[in-house]
Amino acid sequence: MDKVQDTIDLLKVYNQDHIIKLLEKVDGEKKQALIEQISSIDFHQLKELYDNTKKEIEIKENKIEPLPYLDKEKLSEEQKEEFQRLGEEVIEKGEYAVVTMAGGQGTRLGHSGPKGTFKLDVYGKGKYLFEILAENLKEANQKYGKVIPWYIMTSKENNDETIEFMEKHNYFGYDKDSVRFFAQSELPLLDVNGKLLIGKDMRIKEASDGNGGTYSSLRASGCLAEMKEKGIKWVFIGGVDNALLKMADTILLGMAIQKKVQIASKSIVKANPHERVGVFAKMNGHPKVIEYSEMPDKMAEEVDSDGELKYGEAHIMCNLYTIEAIEKISKETLIYHSAFKKNSYIDENGKEVIPTEPNSYKFESFIFDAFELFDDIAILRGKREDDFAPVKNRDGVDSPKTAKELYEKFWNRN
Ligand code: UTP
Repeated sequence: MDKVQDTIDLLKVYNQDHIIKLLEKVDGEKKQALIEQISSIDFHQLKELYDNTKKEIEIKENKIEPLPYLDKEKLSEEQKEEFQRLGEEVIEKGEYAVVTMAGGQGTRLGHSGPKGTFKLDVYGKGKYLFEILAENLKEANQKYGKVIPWYIMTSKENNDETIEFMEKHNYFGYDKDSVRFFAQSELPLLDVNGKLLIGKDMRIKEASDGNGGTYSSLRASGCLAEMKEKGIKWVFIGGVDNALLKMADTILLGMAIQKKVQIASKSIVKANPHERVGVFAKMNGHPKVIEYSEMPDKMAEEVDSDGELKYGEAHIMCNLYTIEAIEKISKETLIYHSAFKKNSYIDENGKEVIPTEPNSYKFESFIFDAFELFDDIAILRGKREDDFAPVKNRDGVDSPKTAKELYEKFWNRN
């Protein structure tokens, strides 16, 4: 009984009276579950996140410089061989693991299931995005004679469906015992007045807290501890939606080892100054990815003495870390960004409202915001036609159509 009263008091303090009304309407197990959900919410943090949506973004005096990189194309044969040798050694010793971030909602693509279950219409029969990833890893396993442990991050929402899908397809021939799923954490959605939304299931509506949640979720799920136990030294983290993602690039790995950095990343050159991608830079002495939306036009168009874009190395979610780096980041709180999105909810009359315009804030942290916790990062410039075929939008740029073309062109060449 006390617990109910405590919950009501808490909701009063944070002006969530509509949830008190909801508590009165439900009973039994539903009530219990709702009380538990409420007790898991950090209302103080949520209030801060909401207050931040009302604040102007602070423009601080930042010192921004370009970040050096190595161009894979321009490496000498000796350099390439040295990197490859260093990288291969790590994989062969079983010190390499891969994480796939598959907890996104894929709202732009509009596919009804988890994004990895989307079938790209390649070579007539088609291939699922998870299948393409599995094939890439199987190829590496064969080459280096080791089965690379594969960790797949899901969301609470798509976890069961993802596991069922992989089971149904027999993990696309991947060793099932080397695949582990872990669900990422969530944060509640808030409406324009800072009120929690109620879902159809009579629970508070929550959503994945962004791909920056990967680090803390690796820790909370026990995957990080498991990796350490297995003797993993390097961890690759990549997205689910790039049909040309290379998850075991020994040149990238070897470069990171040789340069003695904790983080390395593969970039590609921006297609044009205004392509909607984040780019690498150094800000106040630390590595950083600047989002296209935060980049002034003048800076985006700046060129160096060779006529190349000064800030032209695009971040493509192709990141590598030492296990110590993951451990360090997983203990930090990354900043949250808010996105104003359309989310359906149940109104005070119990009716579902499906908004036609954005109505609520979703809070997300970004994987690359962790880079600034380090002094350095090693960047390897790859090639768009070899490394990047994103499936983001239903049509137009970065769509299944463009990804299919890029994928087939790559495999016809290789
Ligand atoms: P995006 O930021 O492109 O998001 O994710 P998305 O969910 O795929 O698509 P939209 O924006 O809703 O249309 C980049 C990568 O990060 C993962 C995605 O699954 C994708 O691999 N991601 C994103 C997560 O794992 N969790 C999240 O909370 C967000």
